[in-house]
Amino acid sequence: MSDRDTPTEDASPDEDRRRSGRAWRGSDAPLRADGGTEAEGADDVRLDPWGSSTIADYRKLFEQFGIEEFDEVLPEVPDPHYLMRRGVIFGHRDYRPVAEAMREGEEFASLSGFMPTGDPHIGHKMVFDEIIWHQQQGGDAYALIADLEAHAARGLSWEEIDEHARSYVLSLLALGFDPEDGELYRQSDNRELQDLAFELGTEANFSELQAIYDFGGETNVSYMQSVVTQMADILYPQLDEPKPTVIPVGPDQDPHMRLARDLAARMRYFGVREAFASFEAEADERVLLRQAYDAREEYAEDADLPRCGEAADWLRSREPAPPDARESAVEKLENAGKEPIRPRTRIFDRRATDAAFEALIEAVPGEKRVYDEHVDAFELGEREAEEFAREVELDHGGHGFLPPSSVYHRFMTGLTGGKMSSSIPASHISLLDDPEDGYDKVKSATTGGRTTAEEQREKGGKADECPVYELYAYLLSGDDDEFAKEVYEECVGGERLCGGCKEQAAELMESFLEDHQEKRAEWEEKLDELDIDLDSDRKRA
Ligand code: TRP
Ligand code: SF4
Repeated sequence: MSDRDTPTEDASPDEDRRRSGRAWRGSDAPLRADGGTEAEGADDVRLDPWGSSTIADYRKLFEQFGIEEFDEVLPEVPDPHYLMRRGVIFGHRDYRPVAEAMREGEEFASLSGFMPTGDPHIGHKMVFDEIIWHQQQGGDAYALIADLEAHAARGLSWEEIDEHARSYVLSLLALGFDPEDGELYRQSDNRELQDLAFELGTEANFSELQAIYDFGGETNVSYMQSVVTQMADILYPQLDEPKPTVIPVGPDQDPHMRLARDLAARMRYFGVREAFASFEAEADERVLLRQAYDAREEYAEDADLPRCGEAADWLRSREPAPPDARESAVEKLENAGKEPIRPRTRIFDRRATDAAFEALIEAVPGEKRVYDEHVDAFELGEREAEEFAREVELDHGGHGFLPPSSVYHRFMTGLTGGKMSSSIPASHISLLDDPEDGYDKVKSATTGGRTTAEEQREKGGKADECPVYELYAYLLSGDDDEFAKEVYEECVGGERLCGGCKEQAAELMESFLEDHQEKRAEWEEKLDELDIDLDSDRKRA
């Protein structure tokens, strides 16, 4: 089969139009990271951090788990990485504060962790690249070796772990991680991390882990320790001071992210919310209280001093939204009777020390009212109150954590179709593969091609279902969008045939591996000088 028959310069105006969008990944077709090999019915999404992860339909992750679409935040990201531009990074949780810090030149961090269960492969490279990119954008970068987790969850011996750990670090360095500026650590070797894990454990209980991870009575304690250790990893960059932090991971790690975000909030000394009177109200009741306050002219004898009882009468006579909260809101207002209804910012004690609570009361400026477990500030907005509360917390030994953010990338399809799996060598390319083996693996990969060259020319190839195209998009094109688009267009336009296409990809893969391994060898020489202990002190397992 020949390589390209038609050069792309001949592209028709129609093609040009398609190129200006994101046609190279198929603008309408959802990119199926499983290459469409998953059975259609297999669309029940389960996110299991320790299971085998295939995701049949990424859209479900948005609906079922509230992961947000990365495309929506993309315009806010300065100079986005190609994995972001190409939709490989497809989802996020709360990435905005990170993007904002990046734009404003403020502090932010990025961290991810790697279980050293085998050789690092091209799937890990994506995450290495994401950490490195955030580092280059000015963030503090962290990469950790999850050796405790590998020991607990995969039963690897410390010797095996040490060997793999070293290899992960070498690849990360070879890809451009700056160790002077960033931090590399092993879970087992980081005492501060373990203390933080222990501390976070005070805010999580067994029932919760059971619900999130399906743990049961027979689950090993070390699994639970792995969970709190990972929670500590995720919050570790904020131990110096709170800062927006992004965790680049696969979507299988999302349960960990949800728990980490919860724990970050539970660790806070104070909470801040809007309030309207001395009593406590739920979020949906507060909506009604706000409406009642805003309508005070309608019912209050003295609009400067609307009473709770008056607001109750008004509310009872209306069709409020949300309707469910009416009864309880009316009741609370009635009980408060003559007390004025008046907006305020409530700062409440969550797990503050007495000294911290006292200091907070002192610090709140303007008119305030102090209760047993909260203080109401009448001249402080919620944002300012948040800042006060965080300052006081930090002054009194708290962490003041911000909820950590995450970005999610698609899983690569295996070269043999189906899942890319480290247990099937032909399905993936290890960063340690002999470059010639890398070449061979690409040459024998499954494609999205048609049965005959003739059919291919006529109908075009199915780039969206082609593992080889994925190699181009995820890795081989690097930062060169034009090249990625060219491959895509030529393929779906029938100008590109699989034989030549694979030859080109195989050659690119071979030289990538050669180059990468050269750089690994260079770092190998310098590894001793780095401040990372690569040998576990515990040799028995
Ligand atoms: N659990 C992750 C995995 O299975 C590894 C990991 C440990 C991690 N700590 C982390 C990932 C912190 C992201 C952030 O590969
Ligand atoms: Fe895949 Fe290339 Fe064949 Fe298209 S031409 S189906 S991208 S191998």
